[in-house]
Amino acid sequence: MSERDTILVARRLPQPVMTRLEASFDVDLWEGEGAMPRRELLRRVAGKSGAITLLTDRVDAELLEAAGPSLQIVSNYAVGFDNVDVPACSERGVLVGNTPDVLTESTADMAWALMMGAARRVAEGDRFLRAQRPWIWGPEMMLGWDLHHKVLGLVGFGRIGQAVARRAAGFGMRVIYSDAVRAAAEAEGTLHAEYRSFDEVLAEADFISIHVPLGPQTHHLIGAEELRRMRRTAVLVNTARGPVIDEAALAAALAAGEIFAAGLDVFEGEPEVHPALRGLDNVTLAPHLGSATVETREAMGMLALDNLTAALAGQRPQALVNPDVWERSRAKARG
Ligand code: GLV
Ligand code: GLV
Repeated sequence: MSERDTILVARRLPQPVMTRLEASFDVDLWEGEGAMPRRELLRRVAGKSGAITLLTDRVDAELLEAAGPSLQIVSNYAVGFDNVDVPACSERGVLVGNTPDVLTESTADMAWALMMGAARRVAEGDRFLRAQRPWIWGPEMMLGWDLHHKVLGLVGFGRIGQAVARRAAGFGMRVIYSDAVRAAAEAEGTLHAEYRSFDEVLAEADFISIHVPLGPQTHHLIGAEELRRMRRTAVLVNTARGPVIDEAALAAALAAGEIFAAGLDVFEGEPEVHPALRGLDNVTLAPHLGSATVETREAMGMLALDNLTAALAGQRPQALVNPDVWERSRAKARG
């Protein structure tokens, strides 16, 4: 019998995932409140064959150093991997897995929840009623803006952006998008989406939803200048990563009425929310719930587990961020 691999799991995952993990591996699980403290993470990763990390764990050269040469895979429980220094992993021959596809539809749903919630002032209405102020139905009470038959602008047209576009058909919206690469004609045709420059999306869209990964090119992609180019009735939604938007600039634009409203699921200094945003009624806030459904969080866990299991069995993980490392190790094995 071969010895079981020891793996680190940085936070408790849904029970069906834990059950399967524990059936195959010796699991070192962090059971503390919240994210694993850095010192604990560095101490406990030592000598592990694999690690399941979360977007709240920084995976960098220091962590890889602490892990030592036994570490074969970092399986990130997220589609985004801006918390992982991928070149540092590749340099050490460590595979990096992520969880695309399984969370696409749930995240697209959340973008719509925020678009509708912000446009129709759902959370503001909820706060209003709970405050028990006197009110009576009124023709001009708490007016929002229609979504249906408006222009939806997607910044980023990958899997999630396209899933958001697909839903727009039911609302009779026109869809425009910008991306570093233009989508295939077939995808544009099926989704009735028109390609535009980033500036054109900002200027033309009634609803703008962000679906780009976070990186040097997208940090503060939306700042004061970009907000000024939007329509005064625009609703801006972010379910991608907080630092894509300059939060102070957004708070100022919302306070000044430069755009109508915003819906944010992610934050620049997460888990902190900019204090200026907390005081505004025209921003709808959610604590990073894009993939937070029972079905999707379990599916993410199973994919993270499959990625880990494959790597430790010498097979190619299904969702691999650095395939070059895999190719290199195969070439070496072939001699
Ligand atoms: C969540 O934000 C993810 O990247 O999966
Ligand atoms: C993320 O999976 C995206 O492609 O939008």
